[in-house]
Amino acid sequence: MSTPHIEAPAGAIADTVLLPGDPLRARHIAQTLLEKAEPINAVRNMLGYTGYFRGRRLSVMGTGMGIPSCAIYATELARFYGVKRMLRVGTCGGIGPEVVLGDILLAQGASTDSRFNRLHFADQDFAATASFALLRGVVETGERLGVALRVGGVFSTDCFYPGDPAFHQRLQSHGILGVEMESAGLYGLAAREGVQALSVLTVSDHLQRDQHLSAAERERGLGRMLRLVLESLVAG
Ligand code: HPA
Repeated sequence: MSTPHIEAPAGAIADTVLLPGDPLRARHIAQTLLEKAEPINAVRNMLGYTGYFRGRRLSVMGTGMGIPSCAIYATELARFYGVKRMLRVGTCGGIGPEVVLGDILLAQGASTDSRFNRLHFADQDFAATASFALLRGVVETGERLGVALRVGGVFSTDCFYPGDPAFHQRLQSHGILGVEMESAGLYGLAAREGVQALSVLTVSDHLQRDQHLSAAERERGLGRMLRLVLESLVAG
C-alpha cells in the first residue's frame, strides 16, 4: 500500500504521529528521542520514521510548511494509514507583551487567513479547535513536570511575509499568542477525518519585538517541548 505522497506499507505507521514541519527535524527526533526507529517515508524527501518511546509505538514525519502541504500528509495519514492522533510540533512567532522567546504554546484554537476550511464548510467560518483530550494530556504533564505552558489562540497564516505588519496589533487585541502556518488546517481536517489533533509550538521569534532565538536556544527549546509531548503520550 502507498498513497501519492507516502510510500509506507500498511501497518508501518503508528496510530500516533508527531508532525514537525521540517523533515530533517523528523529525522533528528527519530534518531535522538525514539528507540528502534525505522524509516517509513522518503517520497519528496518528506522523511518519516516509526519507533518507540518508552515502549509506546510512535511515528514522526515532516509536513512541509503551510496548510496545503501539511494537509496533504495529515489527510493521507488519517484516511489511509488509520492514524488517530496527530501532534504538530513546531515553532511560531510570538504576539503580545506577555509572550517571550522560548515559551511553549498549546494552540487551543486557530484563526486563519486561509480558505482551506471554508472550502469544506460551505464557505462558513469553522472554529478550528484542538483535541481536548490531547490538550488536557499535555497540560497535565506540564503541571506534573513543572514545565510552564501558555494555552490559547494562534493565527495560521498563508503569508510568512505579511503585507501589513500592523495586523499584528489586531491579532494581539484578539488575544492571539502566536503566528504559524498550519494549525487551522490541521484542526479542520482532523475534525472531518474524525481524529485528534493538537499543535504544540515553541516561540522562536517575536513578531512585534524583532527578536529571535539563536540556533542553540532553538534546539534546546524544541528539545524541551518534544520531551514534554512524548511524556504526555506515555502518561495517557
Ligand atoms: N510567521 C509564520 N510562521 C512562523 C513564524 C512567523 O513569524 N515563526 C515561526 N513560524
